[in-house]
Amino acid sequence: MASVDSTIQLIRTTGRDASGKRASACSPALAQAPWEFDGVTQYGPGSSMGDVIPAGSPRQGGLPVEYQRASADELHERILAAKAALGDRVVVLGHFYQRDEVVQYADFLGDSFQLANAAQTVPNAEAIVFCGVHFMAETADILAKPDQAVILPNLAAGCSMADMADIDSVEECWEQLEALYGTEPDADGRAPVIPVTYMNSSAALKAFCGRHGGIVCTSSNAETVLEWAFERGQRVLFFPDQHLGRNTAKKMGVPLEAMPMWNPRKPLGGNAGDDLLDAQVILWHGFCSVHKRFTVEQVEQARAEFPGVRVIVHPECPMPVVDVADESGSTDYIRKAVEAATEPTTFAIGTEINMVNRLAAEHPEHTIFCLDPVVCPCSTMYRIHPGYLAWVLEGLVAGETLNRIQVPDEVAGYARIALQRMLDAKPKS
Ligand code: 13P
Ligand code: SF4
Repeated sequence: MASVDSTIQLIRTTGRDASGKRASACSPALAQAPWEFDGVTQYGPGSSMGDVIPAGSPRQGGLPVEYQRASADELHERILAAKAALGDRVVVLGHFYQRDEVVQYADFLGDSFQLANAAQTVPNAEAIVFCGVHFMAETADILAKPDQAVILPNLAAGCSMADMADIDSVEECWEQLEALYGTEPDADGRAPVIPVTYMNSSAALKAFCGRHGGIVCTSSNAETVLEWAFERGQRVLFFPDQHLGRNTAKKMGVPLEAMPMWNPRKPLGGNAGDDLLDAQVILWHGFCSVHKRFTVEQVEQARAEFPGVRVIVHPECPMPVVDVADESGSTDYIRKAVEAATEPTTFAIGTEINMVNRLAAEHPEHTIFCLDPVVCPCSTMYRIHPGYLAWVLEGLVAGETLNRIQVPDEVAGYARIALQRMLDAKPKS
């Protein structure tokens, strides 16, 4: 069988993780190859395995058997050969959460903001192969040139958080908010509500924001984007990640009581109308199942075991965890913080395991470990494997564009407006 994730293999064979610590994985199914889960109606093993996958989510139709049977060495040779044959015609983008076995082929490695930018800066490539998740590939398609094909090697690589807000529920919410707040701007010209969607959302939601005077944010620019929104609106509807919204708004001084949650399954989101009148940020009831795993107890444990440890967490973590951590920031913030440390330092990191293990391997001068002792990767990032990469690259060599992600023009146009507002938004000096 072709190799799966090296970290999981290590745990399976030795009971220890890549940094030598005793570890266990959250699901034994992680040791199986991702194609075993092609066509299934769940997210697959990993952090999102308990989440409900929407009925209409894309499925991967099945990886041809020759790629399933190929050894790791064979896949390596085939990927290198296909990339060499394609030359500048193809660019491979990789998110920090991808497994090392995939990251080694990325021409650009980055966070979701950097990869969105990268998609705009490779005008000569005929194809952009996105080793990340579905919403990232959609964003690349929106920002890339019309004749560039964006390819997601495994269509089942979605995002459980992005799936927690669908366009119908957001439209319904908007109607109820319009009924409550009206549609007219105040004396300062500020709209009643500005919709802000996290990058981790479908293109349809980005288009919704484009249509309604709203904007997109990522975890690296959420504060700048909220400032932008408050200049133009009396309040913000933030979706799908309640935690990024709450953590960012709290840092900006918005009181918690002015941040009601909107549960799309309940009338008025489960709120009394009065609560909504005082709202400054309405938070959608969404979350990331990777980052939900981090707890205050884990931080306390790390501090007890490693006095002086520097705890850095992603802002998708729940607020109590962000509050007790030393720092919080996007994946690129975390990477830069580790790179900038001049003295040997112990870091306890609250984000996806592939990225943490890579940082640990790249920085032997530091002690770096994941706050969560159980190895539980992002279920959907995990679905990308060299077998799928070899398949789509060899497809391109043969003149076939497999797994193309194409956002319909009418959606892409408005989504591009909201994305461009984000790319143009500048932090207050
Ligand atoms: P970044 O924007 O920090 O890359 O995070 C993307 C993501 O999916 C985090 O869960
Ligand atoms: Fe989505 Fe969380 Fe995975 Fe990021 S880590 S892609 S937010 S499920």
